[in-house]
Amino acid sequence: MHLQGKVVLITGASDGIGAACAHAFRSRGAQLSLIARTREKLERVGADEAVITAGDLKDPAVRAACVEATLLRYGRIDVLINNAGVGLYVPSWRAPEQDVRDMLELNLYAVLGMTQLVVPAMKRQGAGTVVNISSIAGLVTLPWFTLYSASKFAVRSMTDGLRMELRKEGVHAMTVCPGYVRTGFQENVLAGRPPDKLWRMRRFAITAEQCAEAIARGVERDARTVVTPRIGWALLAARALFPRLIDGRLEGIYRGLDL
Ligand SMILES: NC(=O)c1ccc[n+]([C@@H]2O[C@H](COP(=O)([O-])OP(=O)(O)OC[C@H]3O[C@@H](n4cnc5c(N)ncnc54)[C@H](OP(=O)(O)O)[C@@H]3O)[C@@H](O)[C@H]2O)c1
Repeated sequence: MHLQGKVVLITGASDGIGAACAHAFRSRGAQLSLIARTREKLERVGADEAVITAGDLKDPAVRAACVEATLLRYGRIDVLINNAGVGLYVPSWRAPEQDVRDMLELNLYAVLGMTQLVVPAMKRQGAGTVVNISSIAGLVTLPWFTLYSASKFAVRSMTDGLRMELRKEGVHAMTVCPGYVRTGFQENVLAGRPPDKLWRMRRFAITAEQCAEAIARGVERDARTVVTPRIGWALLAARALFPRLIDGRLEGIYRGLDL
């Protein structure tokens, strides 16, 4: 898809990967609609041009208001980037139920809710792309992140299905699986903290801007799955070929967690 003049709706756009996406898509000539909870940050990112919706994506009324405001201003939505998401670093067997529900409300149900609101417009247009931000944790289960992994596996599966459901109507769906990205994500988790060994791997992290570039290039070439950095594909292949070995390594990192 050529992005000049296209309308791009980005969730979780006040910070991190979402804010970097706003810059990457604007620099390609796209018109933006941005949603997150913090209005001041959104207004800074939107630079007086974007449609701004400040509110909690877990609320269906907020999601509906965002899509309505976007269609009212632009009359169409070409790209939906379901980016907002949150982590949970608590072992699955003792994770507080409310935290798990809150995470799934944002990471899964809000993604589905936004998709259901936007796809009818894309079908009418006969074109559009839904971009869902999953994770490396949606390709290989990370034991310090078991339930977050489950939410990101679900997002990836939903995106693959959506692509097959809508291909004939001209609507495309793309999954993005970032590795470690340098953002406030680790500090914003609902509960728990990453294992110490993971903190040390932070030096291999990519920036939000690098991640956003990979996403924008993926949309331009109608990619099905974007893994960034690409070394993530190696982890997936290694896990498929040597499951016990890779599980053992991942468990080793998990044991560094303060249980
Ligand atoms: N960082 C990584 O290493 C990494 C790796 C793989 C995948 N990912 C995924 O990438 C996506 C973006 O992560 P990030 O690193 O950019 O995280 P981040 O820096 O914590 O940013 C999260 C964004 O989502 C918004 N948000 C959070 N809860 C919200 C809610 N209930 N309603 C509306 N907006 C909400 C936040 O804004 P407000 O606080 O203003 O609402 C912020 O704009 C997530 O889906 C994450 O799972 C991240």
